Amino acid sequence: MKVLVTGGLGFIGSHTVVELQNKGFEVVIIDNLSNSSIKVLDGIVSITGKAPIFENIDLKEKSKVQKFFLNHQDIVGVIHFAASKAVGESVEQPLMYYENNINTLVYVLQELTKLEQSNFIFSSSCTVYGQADELPISENAPIKPAESPYGNTKQIGEEIIKDICKVTPKLNAIALRYFNPIGAHPTAKIGELPIGVPQNLVPFITQTGVGIREQLSVFGDDYPTPDGTCIRDYIHVVDVAKAHVVALQRLLESNNTSNYEYFNLGTGKGSSVLEVINSFERISGEKLNYKIANRREGDVISAYADTKKANQVLGWKAESSLDDAMTSAWKWQKRLNSN
Ligand SMILES: NC(=O)c1ccc[n+]([C@@H]2O[C@H](COP(=O)([O-])OP(=O)(O)OC[C@H]3O[C@@H](n4cnc5c(N)ncnc54)[C@H](O)[C@@H]3O)[C@@H](O)[C@H]2O)c1
Repeated sequence: MKVLVTGGLGFIGSHTVVELQNKGFEVVIIDNLSNSSIKVLDGIVSITGKAPIFENIDLKEKSKVQKFFLNHQDIVGVIHFAASKAVGESVEQPLMYYENNINTLVYVLQELTKLEQSNFIFSSSCTVYGQADELPISENAPIKPAESPYGNTKQIGEEIIKDICKVTPKLNAIALRYFNPIGAHPTAKIGELPIGVPQNLVPFITQTGVGIREQLSVFGDDYPTPDGTCIRDYIHVVDVAKAHVVALQRLLESNNTSNYEYFNLGTGKGSSVLEVINSFERISGEKLNYKIANRREGDVISAYADTKKANQVLGWKAESSLDDAMTSAWKWQKRLNSN
């Protein structure tokens, strides 16, 4: 069965391609390499021994998207990762974010509505909840006004999918709201490839660990949390990848209860910034150079998932611990550094 993975050379996409291939799916990747490298293909092949079909297409080009679907009429499902994801950049360049994250989604959905039957998985984010009133955050928590244009593209994306599913019964969709994906494949053949200064905590830690960054700043230690630093739900990227395969299988086997569903992808456990640093020091045996800095604007204090719906309805559960994920991230960083 042929599956299209858009953004399949990116961080989460590449790990999902591996899990799809492991389950016997034939994978077609679309990626315009705007935030990834063609070398990721080699990493995928060296893990699975199978080469996915790769098309270098910019999904903003509607005619190319149309042509692609004409040439690949046998696709049974689409997993749509392709998007721009840097929160700060989205504040500076909102139109670029709306164009890339919304237009690409609309063009893909337009093609799917032309098919007899189609299955669609969307990369959403826990950012849709903002600072939730109750923890852990369940799927019933209200959607809060977005903190950034990036966050808004995820909210609008979900609305678009909901609206089109309402009038298109043959389109089945699932939005997966990721908490904080971290880590790398245990083989260290694929992982996260941040361009420039990493925006996320774990790549910043591992880059500091190998000396690419001098020091990590911990933004605020006076939050109302046990150790004063912000709390997030860090989830191993391989667990996130596996959830996509489970979600796709749910649609292919018609086990969904409505043609638009959404699930949280998290571990259910919150970890503070200092706990993540401790995890790094524990698994690496290195001391991390960090300092406490002022709070950063827009940071949510605490966010971790209620995983009941994903566990019981989707039938998926995160298996790896923070230390497992950190071990893989560290192995990946050391491999990158040795190249
Ligand atoms: N990484 C996270 O922490 C996180 C959290 C929540 C949601 N998400 C969402 O998950 C998805 C994947 O995230 P990621 O971390 O793997 O990001 P990534 O940047 O590593 O991967 C995205 C991929 O999409 C490609 N792409 C972007 N625009 C494209 C276009 N117009 N045409 C074709 N390809 C295009 C990029 O080249 C890249 O390879 C994104 O939608 C992101 O918003 C990520």
